[in-house]
Amino acid sequence: MNAAHDKLWGGRFAEPTDAFVEAFTASVAFDQRLYRHDIAGSKAHAQMLAKVGVLSEAECQAIVQGLDAILAEIEQGQFTWSIAREDVHMNIEARLIERIGEVGKKLHTGRSRNDQVATDIRLYVREAIDLIRAQLQRLQQGLLDLAEREADTIMPGFTHLQTAQPVTFGHHLLAWFEMLKRDDARLADCRRRVNILPLGSAALAGTSYPLDRAYVAQLLGFEGISDNSLDAVSDRDFAIEFCAAGALIMTHLSRFSEELILWTSAQFGFIELPDRFCTGSSIMPQKKNPDVPELVRGKTGRVNGNLVALLTLMKAQPLAYNKDNQEDKEPLFDTIDTLLGCLRAFADMMPHLQVRREVMYEAARRGFATATDLADYLVRKGLAFRDAHEVVGRAVQHGVHSGRDLADMSLEELRGFCERIEADVFEVLTLEGSVAARKLHGGTAPAQVRQRIQAARQA
Ligand code: ARG
Repeated sequence: MNAAHDKLWGGRFAEPTDAFVEAFTASVAFDQRLYRHDIAGSKAHAQMLAKVGVLSEAECQAIVQGLDAILAEIEQGQFTWSIAREDVHMNIEARLIERIGEVGKKLHTGRSRNDQVATDIRLYVREAIDLIRAQLQRLQQGLLDLAEREADTIMPGFTHLQTAQPVTFGHHLLAWFEMLKRDDARLADCRRRVNILPLGSAALAGTSYPLDRAYVAQLLGFEGISDNSLDAVSDRDFAIEFCAAGALIMTHLSRFSEELILWTSAQFGFIELPDRFCTGSSIMPQKKNPDVPELVRGKTGRVNGNLVALLTLMKAQPLAYNKDNQEDKEPLFDTIDTLLGCLRAFADMMPHLQVRREVMYEAARRGFATATDLADYLVRKGLAFRDAHEVVGRAVQHGVHSGRDLADMSLEELRGFCERIEADVFEVLTLEGSVAARKLHGGTAPAQVRQRIQAARQA
C-alpha cells in the first residue's frame, strides 16, 4: 500500500500530499460544526440505500449505529478531528470505517461529497433560520410590549435629525417592529428555497443507483428535491440569499443601535440602558458606555462583508462544483453567529429600556414641533396651504428671535401674523393635540398605535 492510501481518495495518487497543501486545502477546522447535519444526512442516505436494496438491513443497522456512536463521541469531546482527513465528511466516514469495518465503506454508494456538503449546508442554514427567527420574534414581542407601555409617550419626531413633528414613542418603536416583521418574512421565504434536497445529484451528473430521493427528503424534512444535479451541487444562492436577508437585519439593528446610542447620551437623555448592558471606561470614572448597540452597529460591517464575499465567490464559477465553494462556510457561519448574538442581545435588552418620558416631552416642546399643526389649522380656517406655510414661517422666526415656542405666544401676538387665528388655536398647538390628530391608519396617534399593536398581536 502506498503512502497516499490513507486518504479515502488515495487510489490514483503516487505520492502523499504535501504537508502544507494538506493543511491549506483542509476545511475540517471550520466545517466540523456541520457534524450533526452530516450524520443526519448519512443516516438518511443509508436508510434509503437499504430501502431500495443497495444495502442489506443488517448493513444499514451497522452503519446507523456506527454513526450514532460517532455522534456521541463528538458530543462528548472524544472525537479526534484530523487535518489529514480534510473535512467533516471524510473525518466521519473514515472514523465509521475504523469503528465498523468493511461495511462502513458502503455508505458512500451513490453519493459524492458534492451533494453531501450541499445537503449539510442546507440543513444547517434551515436550522439557523429557525433559531434566528425565534430571536427575531422575541425582539418583536419586546418591542410590542414596550410600544404598548409607551403608546401615549410624546417625543420629538425627526427628519434630518432636526425636530420635525411630535410623535409617540410607541409609534417610533412600532417602526422598528415593522422592519423586523419584513426581515422575518424574508427569512421565511428564503427557507422555502433552502429546504430542497440535493442528495441524489452525486458528484454532478446524478447516479445510476435507483435511489429514492423523495424518501431521503422525507426523512430529513426537506420540502422537495432538486431538479438538476449540476445546479444542486454547485449553486450557493440559497446561502447568499440568507446572507442578504441577514445583512438587512443587521442594517436595521444598526440604525436602531444608532438611535439608542444617541438617546443614551447626556445631550438627548431620552432613555437609559440597564448597567448590566453597559461597560465603563478605564480612565473616565463617570462613563457608562452603550457597548452593546455600538458593537451591533459595528458588526453590521462584517455581515455586509460576508454577503459580498459570497457573491464574489460565486460569480465566476463554471458548472458544476468547484473547490471555491469550500470558502462559503466561514462567511456563512459568521453571519449566523453574528445575527444570533446581536438579536439575542437586543431581545434581552428591550424589556429593560428605561424611558425618560419627561425628557422626551420637554425635547418635543423645543424646535417648533407643532408648526405644521398651525399651518393645517389655518387651512381649516380658509387659507391656502402655501400661504399658511408662509404665515407660520414668520411666526416661527419671531419665536426664534424671542426664544419662545408657538404655544408660549399670546393670542394677540399670534393674530399679528394672521387674523384668522382664534382662541381655539391653542388646542392644536399642544403636543397631545398634534399627535392625537394623526389617527389615520399608520399614524402616530396613541389610539392608532394601540390598534396597530393589537393587529400585530393577532397576526
Ligand atoms: N470540503 C468540501 C467543501 O466544503 C466538501 C466537498 C468536496 N468535494 C470535492 N470534490 N473536493 O466544499
